[in-house]
Amino acid sequence: MNNLSQFIKGLPKAELHLHIEGSLEPTLMFQLAERNRIKLPFKDIESVKEAYNFNNLQEFLNIYYQSANVLRTEEDFRDLARDYFYRASRDNVIHSEIFFDPQTHTDRGIPFDVVMRGLLAGIAEAESQLGMTVQLIMCFLRHLDEESAFTTLRMAEPWLDKITAVGLDSSEVGHPPSKFKHVFATARQKGLKLVAHAGEEGPPSYIDEAIDVLKVDRLDHGNRIVEDPLLVTRMARSGMTFTLCPLSNQKLQVVKDLKKHPLPYMLKHGLRVTINSDDPAYFGGYVNDNYQVLAENCALDANDFALIARNSFLGSFLSDETVTHYIEVLDKYTASFEARA
Ligand code: HPA
Ligand code: ZN
Repeated sequence: MNNLSQFIKGLPKAELHLHIEGSLEPTLMFQLAERNRIKLPFKDIESVKEAYNFNNLQEFLNIYYQSANVLRTEEDFRDLARDYFYRASRDNVIHSEIFFDPQTHTDRGIPFDVVMRGLLAGIAEAESQLGMTVQLIMCFLRHLDEESAFTTLRMAEPWLDKITAVGLDSSEVGHPPSKFKHVFATARQKGLKLVAHAGEEGPPSYIDEAIDVLKVDRLDHGNRIVEDPLLVTRMARSGMTFTLCPLSNQKLQVVKDLKKHPLPYMLKHGLRVTINSDDPAYFGGYVNDNYQVLAENCALDANDFALIARNSFLGSFLSDETVTHYIEVLDKYTASFEARA
């Protein structure tokens, strides 16, 4: 392993864009199918992996929603979350803000409370056993209507002290952020932070809408911002955080060639970019693999990756005190790494 790979591996970091359902590894999927007596459309793990070839976001989402069908009980959600936290912790993720998609589960009859209790059990273990901090972001599925998002927000009412933010995911094109204007305004009134996927496959105007209409605190993906230099300047001046996901972009053919990934351009133009894994079980890697592919394909050095890790803490929804603490941990790491080199 070269020096930069070692540096990335040990770098303390936060993950800000991770769909917990997208961390369902084929091994756990088979275990849960057996536990819940569900017949899978795959004969073995090899054939699952073969099916993970996507031409676009929708092809991925079809398989992702189908696989979520094995998640039935509180224990299933706990095991799903626990598996992710152990893997993330091995990548030196010390803080994680995870998405979950309640409608994927409530629409097939799984009670909202089962999902919450399971995820919270996994989070409690991450906090006590791994020393991680974790926050939950409840996403609305944008291919469904705004009324369904409102129903979900009402279901979440008893749990709002455990939920930090709401987000927006699923099929982007044809479902602009403005479709969810009212539910996002209501969520903000309830004290929730706001994020939204925008400009992954959708045009830069969707990024505009997420900022100006939804008034998001952070933007997920946003890779297509490079098509609008004026918006780049505006976002650089505002300090908006972007959660980029290189392996996801490659797998979903959003970016054809990782050598031309938008992250270096965005970084150079003053945007607060971060690196994340999105749906690691489907896209071939956890957060360090995502840092690593950019190290291999782009002209980024250790200072750039340290800045990206710093951005991950600055862009988090943690308190100023905790962010200050994590940045001290990061600074200690970079200083000791330099001393050894
Ligand atoms: N984009 C939109 N919706 C999603 C994604 C994504 O990358 N992953 C899971 N749901
Ligand atoms: Zn995502």
